Amino acid sequence: MKGFVDKNICIGCGLCSSICPEVFEMDVDGLAKAKDIDLTDSLQDTAKEAESSCPVSAITIK
Ligand code: F3S
Repeated sequence: MKGFVDKNICIGCGLCSSICPEVFEMDVDGLAKAKDIDLTDSLQDTAKEAESSCPVSAITIK
């Protein structure tokens, strides 16, 4: 599983990178991007927490 951010939806609130910095980081454009890494079980939990916390539902985990 990996994390994905839809930059067309992200408003750059930064919550995801605060909750799960191992997977999400803020890009130079001020929007989030997901690192291209396979999520371990423990990373999946925090990545899903970031997914459900995103105010505009820009994150998917699949
Ligand atoms: Fe963007 Fe949502 Fe993260 S708005 S910065 S993807 S929490």
